[in-house]
Amino acid sequence: MKRAVADCTACELCKTRKQAVLGVGDVAATWMFVGEGPGADEDECGEPFVGKAGKLLDAMLAAIDLKRGHGVYIANAVKCRPPDNRTPETDETAACWPFLARQIELIQPQLIVTLGKPAAQTLLQQEVKIADARGTVHDFAGIPLIVTYHPAYLLRNLPDKSKAWEDLCFMRKTMKEL
Ligand code: URA
Ligand code: SF4
Repeated sequence: MKRAVADCTACELCKTRKQAVLGVGDVAATWMFVGEGPGADEDECGEPFVGKAGKLLDAMLAAIDLKRGHGVYIANAVKCRPPDNRTPETDETAACWPFLARQIELIQPQLIVTLGKPAAQTLLQQEVKIADARGTVHDFAGIPLIVTYHPAYLLRNLPDKSKAWEDLCFMRKTMKEL
């Protein structure tokens, strides 16, 4: 799949990417986190969430005793960087969807966590307001799915960090009860 993603030209984002960013983690992961799309740092080095937002994601994972690559897989709704870090368009998330679908199929995580609106909308196939959708367990093809804020959003909106903390506790509790 890495090769297929690297060669993919299914949407406009292929024109401006340096490289496609498939995901990071092992196929036996029980947790799967899905972000929006690569930023400049990710486009440069080929791994998701390595920039500022990634540092916060790592801290969020650490808060519930998780670690990148240890039972955790991290992917994005689109595999190529949107120019100027704009939000991916719905036709772009749709074009990229088969890759994410395949990743979920291969990994078969016990719990999926979406970070931010585009990931939530891609997986739930409906308009999502994070403030309304968080705090409950949704379903993706039989896999429990929890919605929370994107770490880049949290960096800009510090008051919502406490809500993200609640969401982390909720995820951990949900996973324990599975
Ligand atoms: N933001 C995302 O949504 N994904 C990344 O990989 C990096 C930043
Ligand atoms: Fe292909 Fe996804 Fe990259 Fe678009 S974002 S070119 S669909 S890999």
